[in-house]
Amino acid sequence: MQVLVTGGAGYIGSHTVVELLAAGHRVVVIDNLCNGSPEVLNRIHAITGQQPVFIEGDIRDRVLLDRLFAEHGIDAVIHFAGLKAVGESVACPLTYYENNLYGSMVLCRAMAAAGVRRLVFSSSATVYGEEAAVPYVESMPRGMTSSPYGTSKAMVEKVLEDLCAADQRWSVALMRYFNPIGAHPSGLIGEDPRGIPNNLMPYISQVAVGRLPELSIYGNDYPTADGTCERDYLHVVDLAVGHLKALQILDAPGVKTYNLGMGQSVSVLALVNAFIQVTGVEIPYRFVSRRNGDLAAFWADAGKAHQELGWRAERGLEAMMADTWRWQSKNPGGYR
Ligand code: NAD
Ligand code: UFG
Repeated sequence: MQVLVTGGAGYIGSHTVVELLAAGHRVVVIDNLCNGSPEVLNRIHAITGQQPVFIEGDIRDRVLLDRLFAEHGIDAVIHFAGLKAVGESVACPLTYYENNLYGSMVLCRAMAAAGVRRLVFSSSATVYGEEAAVPYVESMPRGMTSSPYGTSKAMVEKVLEDLCAADQRWSVALMRYFNPIGAHPSGLIGEDPRGIPNNLMPYISQVAVGRLPELSIYGNDYPTADGTCERDYLHVVDLAVGHLKALQILDAPGVKTYNLGMGQSVSVLALVNAFIQVTGVEIPYRFVSRRNGDLAAFWADAGKAHQELGWRAERGLEAMMADTWRWQSKNPGGYR
């Protein structure tokens, strides 16, 4: 297949491009590099021996998209491009709706005009909302999201459902990610957040490499076994493989929704200890007050992805820690 990957210079997108190329697909990447790096393309080449076509541009640029679809016979789109910082979305909601919601709508318009109606969309466990019972199952309704970021994901899901209901030619997979961490085992590509990381894993690895002095653990008074929050962490390479599996079911029309997670939760403290144990590097940390909007614990029921896609997260915590550390220690400043 010739696959258009939006946001392919980013964290999850770059790992997915590697898996696509390795599986024999041809890839076109569009990315405006607002949170991605052009160096990613060189690294993808170093891993796979192949270079995807790269178009630096914005998914909100309809003229550019029309040209892209006219020039490259695209069969399907995997849509990662978007903004993802939860706190920033609270401060700048319009920026998030413009990028994530409007951007997705422009993309769908351009796809329809080009006759391309197969789409895999990056959604998030956050769409289950604050009240959902664990583990999260796809049959649950979307809930009350706690940030404009989460709402933008829920809104795009709804737009895509409505689109499929209106036009039977569309085929869409909504992939609800839990907490992707880790890096490609080569250590050549990985997560490279700009500024101080918001997320736990890159924060830990930047403390380990000496870029940050210590980790603040947000809250140790949650109703969990050790008092710290629990999340369902999965290896980014497993997540990438999930997208390839989703491509295979896009012959059938309609919307399919899948949780992509390990199906088990790990506490913040357990993750820190796993990192120390696997890498031998100490992580100084202290407990601070809870972070606004954090839920105590959630994890996936990942059974549907296993039954329908034949997908299962296979790489365990040890690989997640070792691969994160290989990436971070080989690239202490990220791609820069
Ligand atoms: P990322 O920021 O590393 O990658 C996103 C890429 O999209 C970046 O390279 C960025 O430059 C590009 N981009 C952003 N807006 C664009 C636009 N308007 N036009 C063109 N390119 C644009 O993020 P990621 O972690 O790889 O996440 C990919 C997707 O998965 C996002 O949609 C994110 O919301 C979703 N997601 C991520 C997580 C996570 O924990 N990383 C969890 C759930 C869902
Ligand atoms: N945490 C810390 N210290 C830090 C960073 C995080 O203690 O410096 C804790 C958080 O309080 C939370 C856990 O580590 O308990 C995980 O936090 P992350 O920020 O890594 O991940 P979240 O679960 O908050 O959010 C992630 C993505 C969202 C996505 C959500 C659900 O960032 O985009 O998973 O999939 F919506």
